[in-house]
Amino acid sequence: MSYDIAVIPGDGIGTEVVEAVEPLLVDTAATRGVEVATTWFDWGSERYLSAGAMMPEDALDRLAAFDAILLGAVGHPEVPDHVTLRGLRLPITKGFDQHVCKRPTYLFEGVDSPLRGYEGGDIDFVVYRQNTEGEYADVGGREHRGFENEVAVQASVFTREATEAVVRPAFEAASERAGHLTNVTKSNAQAHGMVFWDDVVAEVSEEYPDVAVERLLVDAASMDLIRRPDEFDVVVASNLFGDILTDIGGGISGSLGLAPSANIDPEGTYPSMFEPVHGSAFDIMGEGIANPLGTVLSVELLFDHLGEEAIAEALHGAVADQLADPSAPRTADIGGSATTVEVVDDLAARLVE
Ligand code: NAI
Ligand code: MG
Repeated sequence: MSYDIAVIPGDGIGTEVVEAVEPLLVDTAATRGVEVATTWFDWGSERYLSAGAMMPEDALDRLAAFDAILLGAVGHPEVPDHVTLRGLRLPITKGFDQHVCKRPTYLFEGVDSPLRGYEGGDIDFVVYRQNTEGEYADVGGREHRGFENEVAVQASVFTREATEAVVRPAFEAASERAGHLTNVTKSNAQAHGMVFWDDVVAEVSEEYPDVAVERLLVDAASMDLIRRPDEFDVVVASNLFGDILTDIGGGISGSLGLAPSANIDPEGTYPSMFEPVHGSAFDIMGEGIANPLGTVLSVELLFDHLGEEAIAEALHGAVADQLADPSAPRTADIGGSATTVEVVDDLAARLVE
């Protein structure tokens, strides 16, 4: 087998972790008989500052033929966040129908959770976040700028197609895992979009009689993810709520730097995109100390998506081994003092063993 993978390192520590992890991706596949060719795209904030756009106009055409995309992160101290997000990540996720954002949260052995009493393996859930519309739809406007009567409108959009596109894979995952799905909304306060969402969940649930559905409002879910995270298994949520809940996931599993994500086109028409959950981290960029494991675990999701389970399992196993080994290098966010490159080199050694 051989695959063509588009690599967009982006900005800040996004570049640092992707540059460190890409050779590991290629080598791990090669030693297991799978050839991977990577093509790099220097799109991001530097391009915006010099050329006026995060990516070229034909960006999606250029990406369409790849088997998958690996993204670092975007975000620059001199460029507003809505420009970086709307100039690169959102056009790709929306343009490529990546309706599903899949984000596993796993507390590895050897990593301290800020929650008392939880040990390796105790926290193990996956969030299916709607990724193309909802609260992040680009619908709204501003009027009377600068005047007393200034007004801003930000509308949410929920379509049957894109809601089903995330709800069905969530049920599928729940059915394969523990048979339990938590549906997180705010249907009491948002009686149009969120009640529609609940209706879609109820409809799809009829196809999965083996899955028990628990309903939680997002405020209660935020509390419960901290109070009883071990009771969650598969969670399905809208774009905004999924975004917030997965940062809680990153926090309780030890570091945002460990959290991976997959942006998936469930139809498989377009390439799916894999990226660590974290951003470009202005506070540590340029120091070479960013945790690369969120990116390694995103590469695991990439190979899993391509059907290369052996490579995915090897990467996961190497990360688990490294974190469980008290003498292994680790970055500052999880209590060590190693560099990004030292952590990747150690993983590479574990992967040839
Ligand atoms: P952030 O995720 O970049 O950083 C939050 C905190 O976590 C910082 O203290 C950072 O040092 C730490 N952190 C994050 N990743 C780490 C890693 N791998 N290793 C060690 N520590 C790590 O979020 P923040 O600060 O809110 O945003 C910075 C920029 O990134 C902004 O421009 C934002 O818009 C952008 N961003 C981009 C994302 C993307 O491209 N998907 C996602 C989130 C933020
Ligand atoms: Mg986020």
